[in-house]
Amino acid sequence: MDPQGTVGEALRHQGVSRRSFLKFCAAMASMMGLPPDAAAAIAESLAKARRPSVIWLPFQECTGCTESLTRSNSPTVESMIFNMISLDYHETLFAAAGEAAEAAREKAIKENFGRYLLLVDGSIPTGLDGAYSCIGGVSNVQMLQEAAKGAAAIVAIGTCAAFGGLPKANPNPTGAVPVSALVTDRPVINVSGCPPIPVVITGVLAHYLTFGSVPELDALGRPKAFYGDTIHDRCYRRPFYDQGKFAKTFDDEGARSGWCLYELGCKGPVTYNACATVKWNDGTSFPIESGHGCLGCSEPDFWDKGDFYKALPTGTWSAGRTLAVAAAAGAAVGAAAAAVSRRRQAAIAKEK
Ligand code: SF4
Ligand code: F3S
Repeated sequence: MDPQGTVGEALRHQGVSRRSFLKFCAAMASMMGLPPDAAAAIAESLAKARRPSVIWLPFQECTGCTESLTRSNSPTVESMIFNMISLDYHETLFAAAGEAAEAAREKAIKENFGRYLLLVDGSIPTGLDGAYSCIGGVSNVQMLQEAAKGAAAIVAIGTCAAFGGLPKANPNPTGAVPVSALVTDRPVINVSGCPPIPVVITGVLAHYLTFGSVPELDALGRPKAFYGDTIHDRCYRRPFYDQGKFAKTFDDEGARSGWCLYELGCKGPVTYNACATVKWNDGTSFPIESGHGCLGCSEPDFWDKGDFYKALPTGTWSAGRTLAVAAAAGAAVGAAAAAVSRRRQAAIAKEK
């Protein structure tokens, strides 16, 4: 397979059916907020797109972002890696090690200078001249700056790369900073979340390949298609919030009835992410559906913003969408969630 070939050629080579490809494009169109008939145009454009060289640099991170991506269902990480992109360097997934791995990174940078996508997870420690984290004797600061020079765009994957994340939490012993603090002359797309939703990562890559450009970003550099609404805007428990029905403990009658988790510290009203709509594990669930409030993991400094289990002070946030729209969206998502849950229960009962 030609590593520089088109996505369409790679798909054919891998035996991916046109039906599966169109299904993926329809899911992407829906996530990007495009009409259903845009799926065919996305498919045509994506099939013709050249597979870009991708260099993935891990810095101060827990590998949760890579773990999240490798659990991506649509497309699977294998198909994405071999069909949509040419992953030329990723330390965690790489077979090569030591000098061979370093040489592969340098070769990919040289051969694709100005064209490759640079993916980064983890924050970058700047204390002690960057000595807190080095790979092959090169500090993370130096490695990022060298790789950024030839990148067409940079995707900061996860809250650590996007905003500093946990390594930057008080007292920030390593002087951790996000990618955007060190790279200011290249487009940086922040895909925040601790970790980010896998289909959001692949959706951003698909957008870049389809349109050849950086998606529209919010004030914090996040793609609006996935971070345009708060969790609260789209939460299926929102009708209970509007009715003033709040769980007071995690095991009271309100909690068992699925009431709003606001008083138990839910940060959904101030958190922008797609969890309430895209969900996790192939659309199975998300934290609030599992009975726990949102921690605000896709927002800057979420770790230092106070008690996870204390209600947000009133007057410090606005409801965003009109209540009627939010209630309708919440009710629709809630009804769908209930239907899925009923199907699951029926399947479990059948197995028994
Ligand atoms: Fe959902 Fe949390 Fe908003 Fe309640 S406060 S409606 S649980 S996002
Ligand atoms: Fe994070 Fe809140 Fe989603 S904690 S995973 S943004 S529901």
